[in-house]
Amino acid sequence: MEKIIINGGKRLIGEVEISGAKNAALPILAASILTEGWNTFSNVPNLRDVETIKKLLIGLGVKVEEEKDVRINAAGLNNYEAPYDLVKTMRASVLVLGPLLARLKKAKVALPGGCAIGARPINLHLNGLAALGAKVDLKHGYVEAEAKSLKGATIFFDIPTVTGTENLMMAATLADGVTTLENAACEPEVVDLANVLKKMGADIRGEGTEVITIEGVKELKSTNHTIIPDRIEAGTFMVAAGITAGDIKVRNCNIAHMDAVFSKLTEAGIKLTYENDGVRVIGTKPIRSIDIKTLPYPGFPTDMQAQMMVLMCFANGTSIISETVFENRFMHVSELRRMGADIRIEGRSAIVKGVSGLNGAPVMATDLRASASLILAGLASEGKTEISRIYHIDRGYERIVEKLSNLGADIKRVRD
Ligand code: UD1
Repeated sequence: MEKIIINGGKRLIGEVEISGAKNAALPILAASILTEGWNTFSNVPNLRDVETIKKLLIGLGVKVEEEKDVRINAAGLNNYEAPYDLVKTMRASVLVLGPLLARLKKAKVALPGGCAIGARPINLHLNGLAALGAKVDLKHGYVEAEAKSLKGATIFFDIPTVTGTENLMMAATLADGVTTLENAACEPEVVDLANVLKKMGADIRGEGTEVITIEGVKELKSTNHTIIPDRIEAGTFMVAAGITAGDIKVRNCNIAHMDAVFSKLTEAGIKLTYENDGVRVIGTKPIRSIDIKTLPYPGFPTDMQAQMMVLMCFANGTSIISETVFENRFMHVSELRRMGADIRIEGRSAIVKGVSGLNGAPVMATDLRASASLILAGLASEGKTEISRIYHIDRGYERIVEKLSNLGADIKRVRD
């Protein structure tokens, strides 16, 4: 097992390059299933979750080659099962369900269990596939879906679900007739996937809004695409600069995707200046306390909640952070308290009282974004922080130790 060790208190200074978005890469790699030629994807981040989806695709008979770009050819697709071993390590494995059903008219995908941040059901994915005419059964821990043909339908999501919208959009591309997704997720990653599907020849309108219309086509062809930058990784580095009174330039981020995060960072007193090759982020003292409520895009992203909470630990007042997307996404709180944070949970809100400083401590990562928050806390704390169970961080942050250390952080990975 590896650990991350941080000696806190260093100002971060320099430039950091943001990687491709994990949450765009996963559905886009899965979308290759819909085609038979070679697809070439650039700016694919080198992450554990991306490795998992590649393994999953290879298990389905898909060819995956990688040099600088990732090349995928699903001509040999000959299996329709996503096994529990892979699904249990990454819930987003469920993203192969829609494309498998569209291409092979059959899919068997292990049902993801609950996870550290909540129950996270996939009922909306399954209801949507049933509305397209699939017979969906749950047997022995697996979702088994089958259809003679998929037929366009109007599907209303009770909650805007990101991977649910993506799964249904992919399934509908090859269905007969028109599918309308209502109350669809508007996340930039959904739009990036729609752009790839359109390059493949799909007829999609309204992506990025709450109503997406897909007119089915007979077949899709392979394509090339560059994955959008990761807005959550960019936001995490911006908090790192803010919390260490640093001065960094964040390159390769798409500011159009970051309005809610920019607005909250600015409200907290962090200076953000747009420059043509990136965003300059200057942390100033005092950090102002602000309230945050997570919401589906374009609201404040739940994937930035834990990181902002750490920033608020250093603010000059009390902030209320409300988590409305997931029911149990405060696992980082108890670890932050061990570092001296003053945080109280009331239902789905965390009341964070700014303190004069945190102290480094041994802590344990519980999920991906919680791990990022512990790294941020360690960077700004006095003394040594040792973070264990860091495999969570490798799921979603490419070379984070190297990137932070290039900015002047005293951080290293060690084997136990
Ligand atoms: C995606 C992101 C994840 C992010 C989340 C919310 C990927 C690979 N992951 O996860 O990083 O935190 O969006 O922005 O893109 N729900 C149901 N039934 C369903 C589906 C969802 O009740 O069938 C609920 C969930 O429990 C949750 C809410 O809907 O409360 C939103 O979840 P959803 O958007 O589906 O999250 P994911 O797509 O799993």
